[in-house]
Amino acid sequence: MKKHGNRNDDVRTMFTGMYGYGKEYQPARADLGGRVALITGTAGMIGFAAAKRLAQSGCAIAAWDLCEDSGEAKAREIADATGGNVVFYKVDVTDRQAITDAVARVIADFGKIDVLFCNAGGNWGNRKPVYEFDDELFRRNERVNLTGSVVWLCREVIPHMIRQGKGSIIITSSVCGVTGLRNQCGFVGSKFAVSALTRSMALEYARDNIRVNCIAPGSTPRPEDKLNPLWDTVDFENFEKNFSNPENLLYDIPIPRPAEPDDMAGLVQYFASDDAAYTTGQVVCVDGGWTAGFSGNY
Ligand SMILES: NC(=O)c1ccc[n+]([C@@H]2O[C@H](COP(=O)([O-])OP(=O)(O)OC[C@H]3O[C@@H](n4cnc5c(N)ncnc54)[C@H](O)[C@@H]3O)[C@@H](O)[C@H]2O)c1
Repeated sequence: MKKHGNRNDDVRTMFTGMYGYGKEYQPARADLGGRVALITGTAGMIGFAAAKRLAQSGCAIAAWDLCEDSGEAKAREIADATGGNVVFYKVDVTDRQAITDAVARVIADFGKIDVLFCNAGGNWGNRKPVYEFDDELFRRNERVNLTGSVVWLCREVIPHMIRQGKGSIIITSSVCGVTGLRNQCGFVGSKFAVSALTRSMALEYARDNIRVNCIAPGSTPRPEDKLNPLWDTVDFENFEKNFSNPENLLYDIPIPRPAEPDDMAGLVQYFASDDAAYTTGQVVCVDGGWTAGFSGNY
C-alpha cells in the first residue's frame, strides 16, 4: 500500500492509494438511458459526483444549485465528459415559489422526472451544545436540509411521479442522521429528520411505485483542500498510532480514511436503477464502518 502523505498535503495527495481512496476502480455500469434525474447541490462535491455517474449511465440531468457560476461550469463539465444532456437551473431550495417554478421548467424541458436526488445541504453551526447553539443557525439547517431540500421539493415532484406511475427518490442524510454527535444540534436534528422522512415517505408511496431511500455519508472533505479541523487529530508521522488513540478520529473509522464523493455515487446509481426495485425506506451509511459499532475492545 502507498505510504500516506504528510499534514501539509491536500487530502487527495495524502490519502490516494490508501484503502481505496482515489481508486481507479471500474464503476458498476447501469443502463439508465431515457431517464431523467433532478439532482440538487450539483455545484458541490456529492451532487456533482452523483450527477456525473448518472449521466454516464445515460440519464438526462436537471442540475440544481444556488451557486450560478460554479453550477453552470460543473454542468458543462459533466456534459463534456459524458456527452449527456445536462441542464443547469439556479434554484434556492429555501424559496418555496422558486422550487415550484423550477420543477415546472424541468417538466417543460424534459417531460418527466424519474429520479429525484434531494442532496443540497450543509452544516451550519457555532459548534456549541444545545443550550448555547445559535438560533438562526439552527433554523438555517432546518430550512435548507429538511424543509426546502426534502419536504418542499418532494411535494412538488411526487405528483408527477404518481402520474408517471413510478419514481425513485434519494435523500442525502449523514452519519449524524443515524447517530448523535456533540455540538451540532442543528445539523444532527435536520439529518435525523430526513432519515425518518425517508422511511415515512417510503410507506406512503410504495403502492404508487415510488421508492424512497437515503444515503448517509461519513466525513467527506473536499479532496483538493487541506484537511479540515475534523481531521486535525490524525497523526501522519506515526500513522499506526491513530488506531490506538481514542482521541483520534481514525480510531473510530474502521476503514481509516476520509470518504470521497465517488464513494456515494455508486449507491445513488444503485438506488436510481431497477436493481433496487425491491429496496425502499432504507438509510445506508457510506462511512468506512464508522457507525457499525463501538471501536474499543470492551
Ligand atoms: N461533506 C461531508 O462531510 C458530508 C457528510 C454528511 C452529509 N453531507 C451532506 O451531503 C450533501 C452534499 O454536500 P457536499 O458534501 O457535497 O457539500 P458541498 O458544500 O460541496 O455541496 C453542497 C451544495 O449544496 C448547495 N446548496 C446549499 N444551500 C442551498 C440552497 N439553499 N439551495 C440550493 N443549493 C444549495 C451548495 O451551493 C453546494 O453546491 C449535503 O446535504 C450535506 O449535508 C456531507
